[in-house]
Amino acid sequence: MIKATAPGKVILFGEHAVVYGRPAIAAPVGQVRATAVITPSPDTDIHLIAPDLNLAATLNEAGQDNPLAAAVLQVAPFHQLPPFILTVTSQIPIASGMGSGAAITAAIIRAVAHYLGLPASNEWVSDLTYEVEKLHHGTPSGIDNTVVTYEQPVYFVRQQPQNRIEAFRVARPLRLLIAGTGIRSSTKVVVGDVRRQWQANPPRFEALFDGCGQIADQARAAIEQGDLAEIGRLMNQNHALLQEMTVSSPDLDRLVTAALQAGALGAKMSGAGRGGNIIALVEAEGETAVREALLMNRGTAILSSVVE
Ligand code: MEV
Repeated sequence: MIKATAPGKVILFGEHAVVYGRPAIAAPVGQVRATAVITPSPDTDIHLIAPDLNLAATLNEAGQDNPLAAAVLQVAPFHQLPPFILTVTSQIPIASGMGSGAAITAAIIRAVAHYLGLPASNEWVSDLTYEVEKLHHGTPSGIDNTVVTYEQPVYFVRQQPQNRIEAFRVARPLRLLIAGTGIRSSTKVVVGDVRRQWQANPPRFEALFDGCGQIADQARAAIEQGDLAEIGRLMNQNHALLQEMTVSSPDLDRLVTAALQAGALGAKMSGAGRGGNIIALVEAEGETAVREALLMNRGTAILSSVVE
């Protein structure tokens, strides 16, 4: 049996603007993971089983548009693949901004590569995961596949010929509460909507993206210095810019406000928005009060995660 996993993720700073070449910061969330397991096939077929996605089919039946099949076929063409059973499970909430699609793809790519005896460097897994992300998400920046593959906080800039991917020092651990709105949201739809708004008013959206990029740069410096108060302040500023981009929502705003009123150092939506999650920066002493406030305000699947 071969098993591979990949973590969930949160975008700490710079979602959406990162698609337009501005810097962003993301961190893995290791407590929730996607898992791919490969076992021998009883016949000559490749079987794909994903109970969470209601899928039990052969690779051929699933078709190459199926995201799981697409991940397998990134590793090798069909005629080079031996029979096997691939079982995929995930604890990462789907369409919540936590990178469930990228994590499932990365776990599958690692497992299949391992089964075939191929070396699977982080860079290789991330690049193949990006190819699958492109099939399903239109114009992904590449930050999701990067953070779930490298599994460490990353400073990321989408650029040619090669993205800028930097690890950096987290001087003081960042204690985060992640709370869901319970509303699923399609990254592709929200990213497409931002693109339409940018096309309709380029100067306004370029200025918003610049603002997010500057915040991401200041946040990296604050994280490297361990200045938690500044990091919180920058999260609030980033959330305000995301509101102006119309990607926040009443549910996200309610959770952000509740976290701040209960004493969080900062809070913002995280990921594509219009649903999905918020993140709140808390201190150990204040965590329970913020958690309770999020629960009282219909926050779902609340997770505590430490970025270090
Ligand atoms: C999604 O996790 C982050 C977005 O910026 C999209 C992307 O970077 O591909 C909204």
